Amino acid sequence: MSKQQWWRDAVIYQIYPRSWADADGDGMGDLPGITARLPHLADLGVDAVWLSPFYTSPQHDAGYDVADYRDVDPRFGTLADYDAMVERAHELGLRVVVDIVPNHSSSDHPWFQAALAASPGSPERARYVFREGRGENGDEAPNNWLSNFGGPAWERVTEADGSPGQWYLHLFDVTQPDFEWTNPEVGDEMESVLRFWLDRGADGFRIDVAHGLVKVAGLPDAPDGHEIADAERTADFPMWDQPGVHDIYRRWRKVTDSYAREGEDADRILCAEAWVKPSESLALYVRGDELHQSFNFSFLMSPWIAREMQQVIDDSLRAVEEYAAPQTWVLSNHDVVRHASRLGYDPVPGLLRMEGVGADDPQPDAAVGLRRARAATTVMLALPGSAYLYQGEELGLPEATQLPDDAREDPTWEKSGHTSRGRDGCRVPIPWEGDAPAFGFGPSAESWLPQPPVYGDLAVDRQTGVEGSTLELYRTLLRLRRELRPGRGELTWLDLGEHALAFEVSTESGAPLRVIANVGGDPVPLPEGVQVLVSSDELDPAVGVPKDGAVWVQ
Ligand code: NOJ
Repeated sequence: MSKQQWWRDAVIYQIYPRSWADADGDGMGDLPGITARLPHLADLGVDAVWLSPFYTSPQHDAGYDVADYRDVDPRFGTLADYDAMVERAHELGLRVVVDIVPNHSSSDHPWFQAALAASPGSPERARYVFREGRGENGDEAPNNWLSNFGGPAWERVTEADGSPGQWYLHLFDVTQPDFEWTNPEVGDEMESVLRFWLDRGADGFRIDVAHGLVKVAGLPDAPDGHEIADAERTADFPMWDQPGVHDIYRRWRKVTDSYAREGEDADRILCAEAWVKPSESLALYVRGDELHQSFNFSFLMSPWIAREMQQVIDDSLRAVEEYAAPQTWVLSNHDVVRHASRLGYDPVPGLLRMEGVGADDPQPDAAVGLRRARAATTVMLALPGSAYLYQGEELGLPEATQLPDDAREDPTWEKSGHTSRGRDGCRVPIPWEGDAPAFGFGPSAESWLPQPPVYGDLAVDRQTGVEGSTLELYRTLLRLRRELRPGRGELTWLDLGEHALAFEVSTESGAPLRVIANVGGDPVPLPEGVQVLVSSDELDPAVGVPKDGAVWVQ
């Protein structure tokens, strides 16, 4: 097998199928739409795409509630459309990573329907986490666990004879029952699902809620009043990051390794979505016989403060060193406020705005946010390791903060009792053509979430070939990244003052790449005699890197 291992410094672009491109005009994106637009990604210069779920699903959590793991939802197309998409991607030199959702299914899944129809103690119930309730009549939930979307993580069912019955666990929506991973049938089924998509040409998997599959035996209460977000160790919570998850990934790694294709650089990869602290615990997921990558959300969570960012980068790199695994970097995805808006607020350590932004919330400063977002990406794309981009960030799209509340589809909004706006604001359909209906999202004026008017000016056609546009900045960064391969380099910090985030990365061509970001202060002078390769902002070399700007120099 080749030593290259494409995933070590790959740039992987996340497509959210509902919102990328709509071929049939129903206002929801689909696989034929994606296939038609793939040349955009080849031009952009990414290595792979990761697609959020497109499987058969009632869409109570936008597809992360899977009813059939081996088929495409008719909203998104057919298996033949999937095959055509993979073929086209491979022709264009793009690898395809699909999402696997192993922690829970949809309540519409035939297994769960069978579990509801069967009785307590039956093999059908044993595939999910069914328990008796507490209290005299079993009418209290089996423990104190909370759903990630708000409210209790347990739902009581009615038994066949009409009596109030057992409870089932759902760490997410009530329509997303957790699988019982101590039951070998579940592991066998998921392995077979992996094989199904590998057989159909998938180059890898992004593993949803990878840290949640194994729960502490006996399902003890979670620490009272102790918020996961504040925990030093995610594993203090009995439903997260338990040692048993690693056995599952050792088994999966054998499967993907057995699918390595003949020839060069053939690996099929596994990447964990695991919100795990501390970084040493997260690094365990990428030990040599486990996963190839794990999302590193600490960079995304870092405030726009030079020393905090430096600390996070340093910790992240150090944590994976021992396992010779690449670190991953990401600034935006379909679950968080887009970084062009997130960074438009005054930096407050620890404040991520996971609850989303509504029209009546304080609004970000759009210009500041975009400047910082472009600088943050300029930093990210020079870091050793692999980077993930989220659709639309290459256009500098802001979060849609003015969505009417009755348009929202994220279950968070309802389940939180309208205290959390949720994630719709980062999921709005992409603008391709500034003058077309729905900004060219599809052939009609339909768009499942309304697009903010400002998206028109940010459309792909308005930015293509325009010097200084965010799209051209991303293209330049990605072209230079392919030439210099900083993703394979070693990082050394430079001290250029309190507000500067500055480092050198070794390159394959000899001269190191120097990155200088000005994280909110007076201009940072450029070192003597350097050549500027790219700048996130207008740059007067005589003055230095402007506030909230970043450059690559050599
Ligand atoms: C993480 C996914 O990214 C998110 O969108 C989803 O709601 C949860 N997992 C539950 O599957």
